[in-house]
Amino acid sequence: MDIIKTIPEIRSILRKHRRADETIGFVPTMGYFHEGHLSLMDIAREKSDILVISIFVNPTQFGPDEDLERYPRDLEHDARLAEERGVDYIFHPDVDEMYSPNFSTYVKNLELSNLLCGATRDNHFRGVTTIVSKLFNIINPDLAVFGQKDHQQAIIIKRMVEDLNFPVEIVLGDIIREADGLAKSSRNTYLNGREREQAPIIYQALKEAKKMVEEGERSAGKVKKYIRDKIDSVELSEIEYVEIVEDTMLGSVDKISRGNFAAVAVWFGDTRLIDNIILL
Ligand code: PAJ
Repeated sequence: MDIIKTIPEIRSILRKHRRADETIGFVPTMGYFHEGHLSLMDIAREKSDILVISIFVNPTQFGPDEDLERYPRDLEHDARLAEERGVDYIFHPDVDEMYSPNFSTYVKNLELSNLLCGATRDNHFRGVTTIVSKLFNIINPDLAVFGQKDHQQAIIIKRMVEDLNFPVEIVLGDIIREADGLAKSSRNTYLNGREREQAPIIYQALKEAKKMVEEGERSAGKVKKYIRDKIDSVELSEIEYVEIVEDTMLGSVDKISRGNFAAVAVWFGDTRLIDNIILL
């Protein structure tokens, strides 16, 4: 496994593989790996000849008051785990390699970027779609794998690929969870002991909501209220949103039908956690 830091170098390496008719699978990440990231690498490994991942903490998707500086990083540990999962190349550019001082061209979905997580995180999804476009242009993968954990991100990327004709197949991986149900996230390391104890309430609420729907409840209002009350029942939670949406344009629904998701963002202290579940 090699760690490549520059755009010309990764391009030249991958050109050779492409000439040899090898398919390229790609998993973009910001590093600090947990089982969620690794599960996406397993999916890409199985479906492609060459597996490339990127580790890049992308400044354009962080707001001015967000955790860019304190975002956890551990390249050595990540490289060890990636190698164990059969990664061929880690693309790990510096910020200057990806953003020149004159950088001024962005990719933004105009319908989906300001909903749900985008309502409070101004320009977050613009940063995500911009960096993912750049990475797709550099790596030129046949297939790229994203996690269902970031449901809105996955939907926006799929929309972007279709709208802009990127020749990439997008594959989604299931949410990987801790034993108590908390969705794995690099940001879980920010939680203190009491916050960590209470955070599994999020998945409990979502699971129970799904059960309500399976048992016949179709009112989005009632299911949202149930989720809210349950999450509010622990002391340290602060709900940002609880929404029930359809899964192409993220429209809010009144009556739950097949393919609808419940999506939530909840603060525990300074830590923002997101999770989602397919209801039907
Ligand atoms: P990051 O948060 O590092 O996540 C990288 C990938 O891992 C994303 O596709 C995310 O959905 C997935 N992932 C995270 N937690 C997961 C879990 N518990 N189970 C399954 N998959 C999980 O998402 C980003 O980075 C960035 O926005 C990026 C796409 C790299 C653009 O900068």
